[in-house]
Amino acid sequence: MLIDTYGRVATDLRVSLTDRCNLRCAYCMPEEGLQWLSKSTLLTDDEIVRLIRIAVTRLGITEVRFTGGEPLLRPGLVGIVDRVARLEPRPQMSLTTNGIGLGRTAKALKEAGLDRVNVSLDTLRPDVFKTLTRRDRHHDVLAGLEAARAAGLDPVKVNTVLMPGLNDDEAPELLAWAIENDYELRFIEQMPLDAQHGWKREGMITAGDILQSLRTRFELTPEGAEERGSAPAERWIVDGGPHRVGVIASVTRPFCAACDRTRLTADGQVRTCLFATEETDLRGALRSDASDEEIARIWKLAMWGKKAGSGLDDPSFLQPERPMSAIGG
Ligand code: GTP
Ligand code: 5AD
Ligand code: SF4
Repeated sequence: MLIDTYGRVATDLRVSLTDRCNLRCAYCMPEEGLQWLSKSTLLTDDEIVRLIRIAVTRLGITEVRFTGGEPLLRPGLVGIVDRVARLEPRPQMSLTTNGIGLGRTAKALKEAGLDRVNVSLDTLRPDVFKTLTRRDRHHDVLAGLEAARAAGLDPVKVNTVLMPGLNDDEAPELLAWAIENDYELRFIEQMPLDAQHGWKREGMITAGDILQSLRTRFELTPEGAEERGSAPAERWIVDGGPHRVGVIASVTRPFCAACDRTRLTADGQVRTCLFATEETDLRGALRSDASDEEIARIWKLAMWGKKAGSGLDDPSFLQPERPMSAIGG
């Protein structure tokens, strides 16, 4: 079991498969991209599957989410999903993606055993998409979303970050669109995890702003706390149901006390938190023939060092060196 000193138990593993991405979202990375992790430091498909096997057979992990950068850029993704689906006990498997390429791969991913998918889409306007992501790929994301639904990945969730002056007027329109297309929409508060270190608390779009904007067009009733569990999203019932909308308010309403996550970076480091400033190396252990038992022991010890929370409200808060795209969100 991966337990920390606050009594939280991690049952949800987020695995970053690459730090690369084919978009350049303004809240994530600069237009010119980043210095990518070198090939030799990236875990191989075999190493990733081994670590997931250790996590589910020895450490109590029941859910595995694949992230990036953009995880669809990893050539071995379908193979990894297929191998993880054969593990005993079989974990729930999901993917967080920008949707580009999902049009081609959704069916294969579903057949390999992927259960569900979260797709990032910040705007319904192709021109705003191009400004925000610096790529003209709006159409590919919409095609990816449709393919995900058609493949039976259920539910299909959509993640939206609102940026002041860019897409902050679109919340009601996005919700109407999501309801019409049967996607579960969640708005995410922008977090200080961008590579450029450009995040500012002043002016950021808060959960309060988002709810106020949605209420101009919809009636929202809060869902019960028991239904939330350890999910980052608080959910509201829209116009009496059955549709829901979520808000992930990591900045103004942190949910660290219920956190059930552990993270693995593409270069084989355990991160106990999105905002952790320290990491624990598993790649070295993997490559020096450590036993499964030894790797499990290192992982448990790492989780024992998990901090109480993100520390975002501490005056001494320091943004982690590793940007979001290399952590996996
Ligand atoms: P579901 O299980 O489908 O609800 O997924 P999720 O919301 O946990 O995952 P997803 O990858 O879609 O992430 C949505 C947003 O939640 C992203 O901005 C993540 O960075 C953020 N998020 C995920 N896990 C954590 C966490 O442990 N702490 C904080 N603060 N934010 C998180
Ligand atoms: N703050 C909040 N969410 C972010 N994402 C990427 N960068 C940030 C940030 N700085 C979102 C992506 C994706 C999810 C993994 O995290 O849009 O939906
Ligand atoms: Fe790529 Fe995701 Fe970062 Fe956008 S937020 S640039 S899609 S890794």
